[in-house]
Amino acid sequence: MAVYRPPAGRVSNPHVPLGDRRDGAFYGKSIISVRQFARPDLEHVFGVAREMREMVSRIGSFDLLKGKILANLFYEPSTRTASSFTAAMERLGGSVIAINEVRYSSVSKGESLPDTIRTLECYADAIVLRHPQAGAAAQAVEVASKPIINAGDGVGEHPTQALLDLFTIVSELEHVDGLTITMLGDLKFGRTVHSLAKLLSLYNVRLNYVSPEILRMPREIVQELDAHGVHQAEHDRLDDVLGETDVLYVTRVQKERFEDPAEYEGVRGCYVISPETLLGAKDRMIVMHPLPRVGEITMAVDADPRAAYFRQMEYGMFVRMALLALVLGKA
Ligand code: NCD
Repeated sequence: MAVYRPPAGRVSNPHVPLGDRRDGAFYGKSIISVRQFARPDLEHVFGVAREMREMVSRIGSFDLLKGKILANLFYEPSTRTASSFTAAMERLGGSVIAINEVRYSSVSKGESLPDTIRTLECYADAIVLRHPQAGAAAQAVEVASKPIINAGDGVGEHPTQALLDLFTIVSELEHVDGLTITMLGDLKFGRTVHSLAKLLSLYNVRLNYVSPEILRMPREIVQELDAHGVHQAEHDRLDDVLGETDVLYVTRVQKERFEDPAEYEGVRGCYVISPETLLGAKDRMIVMHPLPRVGEITMAVDADPRAAYFRQMEYGMFVRMALLALVLGKA
């Protein structure tokens, strides 16, 4: 895995020997962007994730990271990301300092992100960070001497979600090359689709982006993928592409990111997947969603075997177990 490199001109903390470690390509590294991963890295992570799944099904938990401590620092709400990192750490025998409500921490007294990071790394071996500002995880790396794992930085990236999304696709459909993946909903503010689209550019896939005009995939991401030769197409109507879709990746309209509430009202509920929608889909395809859903997929879809979004969460725990084991050096 590539080392996260801060933008040119910024001096990285000299005490952070990111990369150049001989004891494992992931050991001691921060995970900030999916751009750090090449295909062999992904295969390695997924191989470890499969071992984790096997171990969990056989013995539930084991002591690989006994004595290690993870800090979960969340400046934005989370159910799945926070609790799956906690479950992952505890199933590996480690423990977690959970700051899920920064308003009860010294952040509410005005403590800066760098100072909060410096504090937590005195106690923990790695820090999982979710923050409302794009670039916050990169900023944390600048001051940290312990690995930082980006659990979502505003509208920026959500790399561990993209890894678990890809692991879901590989596990459910057995391959990635040759697939048509349709991303639907809020492609402008949805950080999960930003990371997933970039990660999929390592494969030979066709990407369809279905969204209202004002929620299109950011131009810089489309251009970046264009440069990699990825086939991309934009549509307003799901019907145009549903029949060819192998993975339908549905997202929530990110209400909290809109400056104008009227604009949100104009696009909320723009797409709703129901059993009737799926009549037009392949028999062998999957429906994914990073969750939470707020009406984009009706509950009647849950019973359809193609609905993979609950299984996706479980794959996520195995991927996060693998990442923790690799970063903390015990895999
Ligand atoms: C996503 C997120 O936080 O970006 N949730 C998650 O981590 N599973 C998606 C969302 O909030 O819509």
